[in-house]
Amino acid sequence: MKVGIESIAFHSPQHYIELADLAQARGVDPDKYIKGLGQIRMAVATPMEDTVTFAVNAGLKALENFDIDPKDIGTLVVGTESGVDHSKPVAVYVHEALGLRSNCHTYETKHACFGAMAAVFSANDWISCGRANGSKALVIASDIARYPMGDPGEPTQGAGAVAMIISDKPNLLHFDSEISGNYTKHVMDFWRPLYSKTACVNGHYSIECYLNALEGALTDALHKSRLPALYKMDQLQACLYHVPFTKMAAKAHHRHFEVDAGTKIDKESEKFADVKKSFNQRTAPWLSLNAMVGNIYTGSLFLSLMDLLRNNTSADLTQISMFSYGSGCAASMNIAYPTVGFERFKDKIDPEPELTARRKLDIAEYENIMKINDSLGMGNTEEFNPDEWDVTGDFLYLGNKNHIRRYKGL
Ligand code: CAA
Repeated sequence: MKVGIESIAFHSPQHYIELADLAQARGVDPDKYIKGLGQIRMAVATPMEDTVTFAVNAGLKALENFDIDPKDIGTLVVGTESGVDHSKPVAVYVHEALGLRSNCHTYETKHACFGAMAAVFSANDWISCGRANGSKALVIASDIARYPMGDPGEPTQGAGAVAMIISDKPNLLHFDSEISGNYTKHVMDFWRPLYSKTACVNGHYSIECYLNALEGALTDALHKSRLPALYKMDQLQACLYHVPFTKMAAKAHHRHFEVDAGTKIDKESEKFADVKKSFNQRTAPWLSLNAMVGNIYTGSLFLSLMDLLRNNTSADLTQISMFSYGSGCAASMNIAYPTVGFERFKDKIDPEPELTARRKLDIAEYENIMKINDSLGMGNTEEFNPDEWDVTGDFLYLGNKNHIRRYKGL
């Protein structure tokens, strides 16, 4: 049985900032953010948007755009590292808002940015082993990436959700069912204590941890596979990675290339031209959405996948790799096979019209939103008005009364 992605959809916040404006406000050369990190714009969540509203909106699109009946969903998982409650999962709000059946298996997963990939593989296993009985799984990656203002991590924030329906009718791609390479190690590269709204990060060390995890997961896949040739780069038309900022994908591809070649290739060596060529062919063209949205943690890898699918046909793509990394850390390297004819769903997948319709904020407006977001959730008297925040939609966060979150549409 082939199991994989039947439908995919993205939901973005309705506002963004230009990173050139942020650089100017922070007294930094804009080229550092634009060329050095590879980011152009950054999505900004208003106080009326949170991981619940993003997840509901993305989930709705994944169902409606592909004409899938909510009654067919037998498992719902939300992968997030920016949930709204220490106990109550985002998934249960989503379950109610989407009108899913009461015997749907519903839960939240957390392992930093790896949470959604972990859920995709659990869903895959649930269907492959026959327990789904024809039902489908809805897996949603929903996050708001937040660092303190002025922190080196500030230009690598973002927000949004990617929803995927996993089933035995994989319209878009299916996963290699036999093998995936894994890696886990206790490291303090990025974490968010329960009392903090923003992440703590040891930035340069986190890059090192990411690359070591990639090497570990790929090596594991090569050792375990009965067909290690599957993982060779010359078999892959695209190599997708977790994308906290697009330059990280370039670093990832460099390390991937080195493991594949079985030798270190430093930037001064002649062979580095081959690394760059391979990156420009297999990874760089599918980073444009990430560059316009920023880091969406659990969803970043899947946003790059959407970029790949909206820009190709099945004549160009037969086999790709997908690398997921979650700080702390856990990682997996997987092989996936795009489905013949997936291009007929291109228009349903493309999130560009939504991104183009976003409103630009100036830096003072952005800073005001960040300050308000940071002060939220401490009391029980917040109330929001859509006009005040210039947001539209059927699902919005309305505030917190008596410690109960209220949503429009719920
Ligand atoms: N023109 C062009 N390029 C410039 C430049 C300029 N004027 N000034 C600097 N640069 C380049 C630098 O050379 C560097 O490029 P290389 O890495 O290729 O050398 C790049 O711009 C960034 O410069 P710095 O390293 O000096 O930047 P920094 O120290 O201020 O912070 C960061 C960078 C560590 C990524 C920081 O933004 C951060 O902490 N981000 C959050 C953590 C993160 O995203 N980690 C990624 C791995 S962990 C993960 O993936 C999980 C997750 O989602 C968080």
